[in-house]
Amino acid sequence: MPTTDGLLSPNGPVATARLFAGRLQCGPMGIDRAQLIDLRKVSDPKGNLTPIEGGLDVPFEIRRVYYTYDIPGGETRGGHAHRALEEFIVAASGSFEVFLDDGLKRASFFLNRSYYGLYVPQMVWRHLSNFSSGSVCLVLASDRYDEADYIRTYDHFIETVKTLEG
Ligand code: TYD
Repeated sequence: MPTTDGLLSPNGPVATARLFAGRLQCGPMGIDRAQLIDLRKVSDPKGNLTPIEGGLDVPFEIRRVYYTYDIPGGETRGGHAHRALEEFIVAASGSFEVFLDDGLKRASFFLNRSYYGLYVPQMVWRHLSNFSSGSVCLVLASDRYDEADYIRTYDHFIETVKTLEG
């Protein structure tokens, strides 16, 4: 289950894309838009299946998929923010923690099931760690890979947040 520093209180994977649709139009920015989202689970004695459709199960159209795997014990991934990119992160196998920071608030989420994931909006610093052995981190992204969209140092991220806030 998610753990937070008390500033966010996600009570579990309960959000829906529909809820997001409203938030995207008039909701808060930054970490307040981060949310665990339940995915559909088609249960079958032969094995379960979880579909993810852009704009339906996640609040953006999916333009890219990537996954990290064979992550050595103790390693950390991420350590950056995106100016415009939205992402949805799923522990397709195993478990890991996602730490989010929007310059004002911080929260961490423990992901360990294939049938829910974490929506990470734009302009949120993230890093991922505590990967279990054999874990697979599946990421759905709202756009193609673009290095120019990355903010790769925390100081630059904070400067950019301040600039955006005016
Ligand atoms: P990066 O996003 O920094 O990885 P992580 O956040 O998981 O630590 O990407 C690592 C490298 O992989 C980067 O130098 C470029 C490459 N890359 C692509 O070519 N395409 C992609 O879609 C992504 C996410 C990364």
